[in-house]
Amino acid sequence: MALVTTSKSNGVATVKINRPDKLNAMNMDVAREIISVFKELDQDAETKVIILTGEGDKAFSAGADIEYMSKITPDQSVEYAKLGQLLTATVEEVSKPTIAAVNGFALGGGCELAMSCDIRIAADTAKLGQPEVTIGIPPGWGGTQRLMRIVGIAKAKELVYTGKMIKADEAKEIGLVNSIVPLASLMEEANKLAQQIAANSVLGVKMSKVAINRGRNADLETGLGVELLAWRNCFTDPDREARMTAFVNKSKK
Ligand code: COA
Repeated sequence: MALVTTSKSNGVATVKINRPDKLNAMNMDVAREIISVFKELDQDAETKVIILTGEGDKAFSAGADIEYMSKITPDQSVEYAKLGQLLTATVEEVSKPTIAAVNGFALGGGCELAMSCDIRIAADTAKLGQPEVTIGIPPGWGGTQRLMRIVGIAKAKELVYTGKMIKADEAKEIGLVNSIVPLASLMEEANKLAQQIAANSVLGVKMSKVAINRGRNADLETGLGVELLAWRNCFTDPDREARMTAFVNKSKK
């Protein structure tokens, strides 16, 4: 059985982690497969938006595979964390906009994976957290760095030091998820949002992502420099020209 499944419809690719009997926990094979799927989708001209979710109605992903981690050496732990960091970086840097549809537990590596997506929509049943310290380690797939950039240092430290799980409403309150919807309509709502994005200029959205991702860790001046190049790039795009001309012509009528 495939560890990750992909379906495509109307410019939107839906990627599902498919290990529901283990709450979609990510062993090395699952992590490698997600990386491979995202690399393919990056190059796929038909795909405009990617939705990432977990199979079943219990978990987005319960994180890294604890059974595997319980047996590994320090050197193997570095290999595993490097793979996890490559996974989250690959998802974060894919050139298409990404939506995490958080359909249940998003814990440890699962929360880190969701944080690598551009937007997170949570089911009302979702529970998120970084419980790594409860099993003797810090977050290792980017959680110590990305969580504080999303929710601020104090909240990130509280979540990481306690290892507690928070419900969807608290995750929304602290900005960890963008919105909450009933579990039954999660994929419909994620698709609606994806279609709204897909209707826009592909290059305009792509350049917005480049400018935001590159600017996030840079000083303002550098970020504004990237924004200028991203803006100029779109003025070479026939689709940009067509959209502006259509606007002008309609207003002239
Ligand atoms: N790694 C490996 N297996 C995991 C897993 C993980 N991160 N999370 C869950 N599983 C497995 C369980 O071992 C169990 O397998 P089994 O049926 O073969 O025994 C199965 O998934 C179902 O999990 P279970 O614990 O029975 O479900 P639950 O509803 O009682 O509890 C959680 C759900 C999420 C609270 C609990 O599974 C949990 O705490 N998981 C670990 C979360 C975590 O610490 N993640 C960070 C890792 S760095």
